[in-house]
Amino acid sequence: MPNHNSQPLIAYVNGHFLPLDEATVHIEDRGFQFADGVYEVVACFNGTYLDLEPHLKRLERSCQAISIEPPFTLAEMRQWIEHLYAMNNIPCAMIYIQITRGVAARAHYTREKLTPTVVMTLRKLPQPTHEKIQAGLTTITMQDIRWKRCDIKSIAMLASVMGKYEAVAQGADETIWLDEENHVLEGCSTNLFAIIDGALVTHPLDHQVLGGITRDMVIRLAKANHLEVQERQWTLDEQGLSEVMLSSTTNAIMPITRINHQPLLEGKPGARTLQIRQWMIEELDKLAAS
Ligand code: PDD
Repeated sequence: MPNHNSQPLIAYVNGHFLPLDEATVHIEDRGFQFADGVYEVVACFNGTYLDLEPHLKRLERSCQAISIEPPFTLAEMRQWIEHLYAMNNIPCAMIYIQITRGVAARAHYTREKLTPTVVMTLRKLPQPTHEKIQAGLTTITMQDIRWKRCDIKSIAMLASVMGKYEAVAQGADETIWLDEENHVLEGCSTNLFAIIDGALVTHPLDHQVLGGITRDMVIRLAKANHLEVQERQWTLDEQGLSEVMLSSTTNAIMPITRINHQPLLEGKPGARTLQIRQWMIEELDKLAAS
């Protein structure tokens, strides 16, 4: 599997840096058999990592939440990430990090003290064109069919995969999960925001949403720029709603211009959304210059 310079992509598996095609784990890895693990996705722009520390801290929290003892310090993990980035010639990259409980004979519980499996891969970060940003993203809604610990960044992603397949089957980019009262929770791999009566509104942090690192950044930038932020439940038919947008490491922030095949704001990206995207770009420029 080559990168854009036709060099083989390098992956990390349990202390080894190997060509991706040679990087393998055991078939009795609990990640493979039980989705017994957690993950992170980190973005790097020309050598500048976006919020690497908060991502690593969340990885540590995810491990704690499922009682996996991370087999490394955060400083070591940072070194491995930097080494992986240096070995792959991909300037704007997304780094996938996965930790599972380890390898054992298949049983839900094992008494054995396992060594966690750590794998990392690196790929080109998809970056939307100007046309894609102007067109915005299209979404559908579905009742949330996921579990009650969406705050853990678990590798058990079947519901999200089903949601994404359904979105694509309907010609859309993302599925928005709704709770039983039709409150907007989040997307399959994104957090959701709206502009309602001029304020930036997003679901509060609880067991139904992942505490996105990009979500934190959006809130931080909004507050710094005197845009009112409300972390509360909201619905898509709320009075005063003028914009809907999504955030994630791989999207930064993107406007949503269609929901369930209906155009929002005549199918154009909202001004606030584009402004927040601009604040994020300026933040990245500041980071790169520091
Ligand atoms: N997804 N909500 C869910 C369910 C997610 O899977 C993600 C991230 C987010 C946004 O989190 P962050 O801003 O920290 O990326 C919200 C990653 C990118 C993925 O699975 O590829």
